[in-house]
Amino acid sequence: MSGRAEAEDRPGRDAAPVLELRDAVRVHGAGAREVRALDGVSLVVPAGEFVAVMGPSGSGKSTLLALAGGLDAPTAGEVLVEGEPLERMPAKRLARLRRRSIGYVFQEFNLLPGLTAQENVAFPLELEGWTRGRAFAAARAALEECGIAELAGRRPEDMSGGQAQRVAIARALVGPRRLVLADEPTGALDSAAGSAVLELLRRRADLGAAVVMVTHEARFAAWADRTVYLRDGRISGSSGPSDPAELLDGCAR
Ligand SMILES: Nc1ncnc2c1ncn2[C@@H]1O[C@H](COP(=O)(O)OP(=O)(O)OP(=O)(O)O)[C@@H](O)[C@H]1O
Ligand SMILES: [Mg+2]
Repeated sequence: MSGRAEAEDRPGRDAAPVLELRDAVRVHGAGAREVRALDGVSLVVPAGEFVAVMGPSGSGKSTLLALAGGLDAPTAGEVLVEGEPLERMPAKRLARLRRRSIGYVFQEFNLLPGLTAQENVAFPLELEGWTRGRAFAAARAALEECGIAELAGRRPEDMSGGQAQRVAIARALVGPRRLVLADEPTGALDSAAGSAVLELLRRRADLGAAVVMVTHEARFAAWADRTVYLRDGRISGSSGPSDPAELLDGCAR
């Protein structure tokens, strides 16, 4: 797609894909209680690609994202970010990579109560050692990018679900994020606000980030370069947005 081609033209782009899952398995529990949340998923997402992940509830979408973001580790298989296997990374480095390069929008927003929107968005940068002034300026820019500059001084407990969701998205996009992972980022938003979020994610991919977004809605998946369908922890199909017949086929399987 055009975004990917642009990213490839960018000087200094790393050769390794931003995200790679190699036969990733995640098993919870054991014996009769065993749940194979992810059952052998391989996925490569290069810089500049926007991938949508669809599938029924319980099919492993959030698990895939958690593994990709280093929030959870696979039972078997490998997850690599910018060519580096997360499993073998010392905990401190993994934490640093997560703060610095990975933006994560959680299915439930996970904003820190008691902190304003600006403080919430600046938080990962301050952890990374940015001065408060620099982190606040970047937070301000991310809030503006997300069209919610007026919420800068407001706390999550005084926001609507849709406003909190947009603050969570600003936090995932702030600073130089190479990998943006979003778990149903449009869940709490109306149609117009949902499209605005998709526009932001699309633009980030066009600027060279790898973006993986979980969604239940085909109209949002249509913004992606590629849609991957999960079923029972496995990839059951995959398609580009330009082929609706294939999309429907992928859903039915
Ligand atoms: N911590 C856990 N312990 C036990 N089972 C789990 C755990 N986390 C996830 N699972 C199970 O793994 C499977 C995949 O869960 P996951 O949350 O990835 O699904 P999902 O596709 O994101 O669903 P949804 O659309 O409802 O968000 C489900 O059967 C779920 O019950
Ligand atoms: Mg989920």
